Amino acid sequence: MPATIIIGTQWGDEGKGRVVDYFAAKMDVIARYNGGDNAGHTVVAEGHKLALHLVPSGILYPEKTCLIGAGTIVNPLTLLEEIKTLREIGVEVGPKQLKIAAGAHLILPTHRSLDGASETRRGEQAIGTTKRGIGPTYADKARRVGLRAGQMRNRQEFAKAVRNLTEIHNERLINLYGLEPLLVGPIVDQFTEAAGLLAPHLVDGAALVAETLAKGKRLLCEGAQGTLLDIGYGTYPYVTSSSPIAGGALTGLGFGPKEVESVIGIAKAYTTRVGAGPFPTELNDKIGEQLRQVGQEYGVTTGRPRRCGWLDAVILRYVAQVNGLTELALTKIDVLSGIEPLKVAVAYELDGERIETFPAEWGAEAVANCQPIYEELPGWEEDLSEIRSREDLPENAQAYISRIEELVGVPVKFIGVGPERESMILP
Ligand code: IMP
Repeated sequence: MPATIIIGTQWGDEGKGRVVDYFAAKMDVIARYNGGDNAGHTVVAEGHKLALHLVPSGILYPEKTCLIGAGTIVNPLTLLEEIKTLREIGVEVGPKQLKIAAGAHLILPTHRSLDGASETRRGEQAIGTTKRGIGPTYADKARRVGLRAGQMRNRQEFAKAVRNLTEIHNERLINLYGLEPLLVGPIVDQFTEAAGLLAPHLVDGAALVAETLAKGKRLLCEGAQGTLLDIGYGTYPYVTSSSPIAGGALTGLGFGPKEVESVIGIAKAYTTRVGAGPFPTELNDKIGEQLRQVGQEYGVTTGRPRRCGWLDAVILRYVAQVNGLTELALTKIDVLSGIEPLKVAVAYELDGERIETFPAEWGAEAVANCQPIYEELPGWEEDLSEIRSREDLPENAQAYISRIEELVGVPVKFIGVGPERESMILP
């Protein structure tokens, strides 16, 4: 069973990148299975700090194969930018290292405009999207009118398809939103040029995955965003338009569940969210601000300040269920140093009743009506960043971790204790 899936257990930004980076070293193929350039994580390579949005973190290991899977959506222009940035610092990003599944859908500039227009139209109910065109691109996929990466192989036909879809989008921009259309010619030119550059990277993604697994090689499935942003199991409608959950790895890469060895959930030691939507344990006070400052909680893609709050074990229990988590990685526990007492939500009160389950399927309004029931835990003062074994953590930090394991029913195998690549307690 050579596949490992790494997922976010909250609303994204749990620090998946670093855990993926750690695992990538032991894997043969690292594959992104959902989302597009709405995601973002910072990696440090060759002394440079850079933000990756779509290219899997495994790209920093030249001997590994990175796959952008069929469940993702690709903006060819931002992908080329990312490749350029990587090459500038000496990272090799040829067709051998980076492969793009022919079934991945493509994001057009008009998808971005439609995303922005829809957000403006929603007014108070805006999702707070990253405006990268994610919703409109997945909508076109579902409507069966989308453009797929594989079409880039035939540049002439591709140019026609880009022109056609851009024109359809322009009509929507004009007629539905009263906006100016985008100039079609330059988009077609940019996209056909991009097609020439990206075509050598195209592969049959599912076939590559099948071959990898058949040879007993190891596959790492890298999820973007988090479970609570899942289109089906998140806090709908305040979600993204893809499936960040473990099931999304199967549909996004095209392989079966019997290959899955482990599902690792990445959880921040507290909770954050960017964008709108319910967040039961949100803190709009000094502690929330402290978490934001100490944890540097600002979005990598949009720079937006993240909303911060206490750890929510109701969420983690739910997430363990829908993903079949086998282990947890707890990140940024160092950020909690100096907060006394710590609180963890262990249940909710909803309509006068105590509930232990996260009511995601009942929708955002039900979640918004949940009042967290907290358990208080003693904090610690020490700086944790140099600690490399769980037993060396302050007793109260150890107790905090053990309590999470008890509440969620999943062992914590990795603990992030600081911003450096090596600031991690490993099993
Ligand atoms: P979209 O994915 O741009 O459509 O945005 C939908 C929601 O998902 C918004 O609340 C975004 O802030 C959130 N979101 C999308 N990508 C990420 C991410 O990588 N980290 C955290 N939140 C994200």
